[in-house]
Amino acid sequence: MTDPTASPPPPEVMIRLEGLVKRYPGQSTDAVSKLSMDIRRGEFVVFVGPSGCGKTTTLRMINRLVEPTSGRIWIDGEDVTDVDPDRLRRRIGYVIQQIGLIPHMTIAQNIGLVPKLLGWDKARIRDRVDELLELVGLDPAAFRDRYPKQLSGGQQQRVGVARALAGDPPVMLMDEPFGAIDPITRDRLQEEFLKLQERIRKTIVFVTHDIDEALKLGDRIAIFGEGSRLEQFATPLEILSEPANDYVRSFVGAGTGIRRLGLLRIADIPGGAPEPAGRGAVRLTEDQTVHAALEEMLQAGADEVVVASADGRGERSLTMRDLLLAAARAKGEAR
Ligand SMILES: Nc1ncnc2c1ncn2[C@@H]1O[C@H](COP(=O)(O)OP(=O)(O)O)[C@@H](O)[C@H]1O
Ligand SMILES: [Mg+2]
Repeated sequence: MTDPTASPPPPEVMIRLEGLVKRYPGQSTDAVSKLSMDIRRGEFVVFVGPSGCGKTTTLRMINRLVEPTSGRIWIDGEDVTDVDPDRLRRRIGYVIQQIGLIPHMTIAQNIGLVPKLLGWDKARIRDRVDELLELVGLDPAAFRDRYPKQLSGGQQQRVGVARALAGDPPVMLMDEPFGAIDPITRDRLQEEFLKLQERIRKTIVFVTHDIDEALKLGDRIAIFGEGSRLEQFATPLEILSEPANDYVRSFVGAGTGIRRLGLLRIADIPGGAPEPAGRGAVRLTEDQTVHAALEEMLQAGADEVVVASADGRGERSLTMRDLLLAAARAKGEAR
């Protein structure tokens, strides 16, 4: 399968899929058909698409839980299509919806699985486990010696994330990790995970069938159609502003204009008057979303906002019309 003449992708590309195909034995069609894409270092990419379109198969080919029928996979400049899968998997964190914690092992033992395989000594593993529990918001003293069934679904999912991070892999694969969790906990886990990613900057491939989850989390979103056809691979704002075709339009659904307001920051809106505004103005900061700004203006019955710059040095005032016009014109540059 390996072509020794192929040249590796440039260093900013962490994962390259090249004409990747999977046909399961006995099937007459490909589960994944000629998929090619580049995922950049430190990028959070979300795969979204209907059930059966090949998302899980693609993810499992990246860590070789599924062997590709043809095509090539590069990770961090190396052609990994034929490398030893066990070795490969230690460099890739994997989180699944079913979590897959081992029931007769404690939380600490579950998280320490990969470090143990990597041959770390006991003290180093113990320190790493505690560090990871802290990182995912679980008190080490309270949780390290419990068993999985003594945790709620949301807590188990955090342990799943901690376990995937244990060997400090550069790449994380996440297959509907928040799918089985109630909406409120799910929302919180999403927020926390975004904050965590700001600190750890892993290259993440995250699968979901929920377009709202994709728009919220992804730096870029890959929208798949039938048979793993890549319909669009772009930023959330680009997908909302310039859907590539009717399939993407219908997949994203109604309310794209309103959703766009939730992705734009006030900082993305140019202009405004330098003078502080007058009566009834609402005070906001540049990092707030346009959606939040409009919400506050409607609540206060104001049609102007005063925005303090992030460094607190300057102020400008924007009218509701400024915000709406700029939002209507905004294309995919933000984020
Ligand atoms: N082990 C398997 N054997 C045969 N067909 C499979 C197997 N796993 C998945 N498939 C088929 O491959 C296609 C893609 O499945 P999958 O990658 O699980 O999609 P998704 O994760 O997007 O729901 C589906 O048609 C599914 O039925
Ligand atoms: Mg799946």
